[in-house]
Amino acid sequence: MRENARKVSPLIEFFGRVWYTGGMLIKDILAATPCSQDVTVRGWVRTKRDMKNLIFIELGDGSCFAGIQCTFDRGSETGKGAVEIAARSEISTGAAVEIRGRLVASPASGQKVEVAAQEIILIGEASSEDRPPDPAVPGDAGTAAYPLQKKRHSLEFLREIAHLRARTNTFGAVARLRSRMAFAIHQYFFERGFQYIHTPVITASDAEGAGAMFQVTTLDMEEIARKGNAPDFHEDFFGKRAFLTVSGQLEAETYATALSRVYTFGPTFRAENSNTTRHLAEFWMVEPEIAFADINDDMNLAEDFLKNIIKTALDDCAEDIAFFDSHIEKGIAASLREVADSRFVHITYTDAIRELEKAGSAAAFEFKPYWGCDLQSEHEKFLTEKIAGGPVIVIDYPKEIKAFYMKLNDDGKTVRAMDVLVPRLGEIIGGSQREDSLEKLSARMIEMGMKPEDYSWYLDLRRYGSVPHSGFGLGFERLIQYITGMANIRDVIPYPRAVGQANY
Ligand code: 4AD
Ligand code: MG
Repeated sequence: MRENARKVSPLIEFFGRVWYTGGMLIKDILAATPCSQDVTVRGWVRTKRDMKNLIFIELGDGSCFAGIQCTFDRGSETGKGAVEIAARSEISTGAAVEIRGRLVASPASGQKVEVAAQEIILIGEASSEDRPPDPAVPGDAGTAAYPLQKKRHSLEFLREIAHLRARTNTFGAVARLRSRMAFAIHQYFFERGFQYIHTPVITASDAEGAGAMFQVTTLDMEEIARKGNAPDFHEDFFGKRAFLTVSGQLEAETYATALSRVYTFGPTFRAENSNTTRHLAEFWMVEPEIAFADINDDMNLAEDFLKNIIKTALDDCAEDIAFFDSHIEKGIAASLREVADSRFVHITYTDAIRELEKAGSAAAFEFKPYWGCDLQSEHEKFLTEKIAGGPVIVIDYPKEIKAFYMKLNDDGKTVRAMDVLVPRLGEIIGGSQREDSLEKLSARMIEMGMKPEDYSWYLDLRRYGSVPHSGFGLGFERLIQYITGMANIRDVIPYPRAVGQANY
């Protein structure tokens, strides 16, 4: 037994020495075999129960969903000092402590192992009550109670204290999942020969033509206004107007037509005035771009990619997903598993509109669907939940509602766009085959009131060795929403930026 015991090893050794003295991660300790090994855990007190013979402290360090139970035995000779300290009121929910003890099999159900504590050090207390300033003590500011006491808090309340919410079960789980998914995305592309391209955050071009960009300037607008002048952007930092990017696609295309398979994964910004549960002003986008690829290759990549990422979530974040399943969205694990094993339904925009019109009054849409309309989120919901019963890829949209760079179909009316819609959420991916004909692309730009000369570098890709190429954008927060079941996109990014909201 002893021979086979799985011991907890410190994180990283540096020339045989532990480089980091922060103790051990609870995640590793919980996976170890109880073998009376001495362990040191550091974390924040989740709960403390003071009983007749024992004091229980559950400690969390965020390394995994579960915390570790530490028991202080009032009958133990060696741990006497520890019991006294553990009993003190300063050791309460939210306090940071270090506990040393032996890793033993837990006699109680609920956990395999626990720490028979021998020592406890209070590192940082978290007041458990409000205390007004004491006028007798100069400079005393009083204390405010730690806001995350044991009871359950609403997501709205937690949004107000976003700097502390990562300490809750829900936000800890979201943060771990988010981190694992980001890594899974890099892994997926790396293993398939994609190069990771760092496209710029500041740009002079409007990739989506949606006109919802944040301007970047160092001009002193107040001063200019005071003088009664209009801003002259030739005087600005970049010598012209510049913006925060809405998408790295155009720049990614330049690398795809050199390195064949590329992707970008970075922050993007949209100044849309849409106060919804699926829109942020700052969000992360994953944008693969592949050369020698048409819309079918693009759809296959999107489907394989999404399923692969979902599988990783189910396999590697099982504990966190189990929590989302029981507390956030019932049945989400089974439905994700089903999606991972399914084939996505393909439907043309024209057929989708036909289905929506057929559903007509029975579906009671707020926005009446018609050929040429943008699909509203209620339409997307209907297509995924009622028609397909799973993810749907809608292709061949009217050119009027899509970006300038999409390849025109032979009908002259629709473009080779593809959007992946998923139940509960609607659009999660938007992509297309790109227009690779110089003539058609220039004509389309002029038609849309754009100046081709402003995009001469982009048109060069069509002048020199032009190839069919395709790509898509996945909204990273939408992905996290989809996998966690979190209803509001503001709860899947640490510090959400939206209309009227840029705290921290
Ligand atoms: O459909 P979109 O606008 O497509 C593009 O930007 C293309 N340039 C992508 C490409 O082909 N390389 O955005 C892509 C995805 C959407 O499907 C959605 O998931 C997400 O980005 N998204 C947002 N997520 C959060 N907040 C917003 N305001 C978003 N706008 C788009
Ligand atoms: Mg879109």
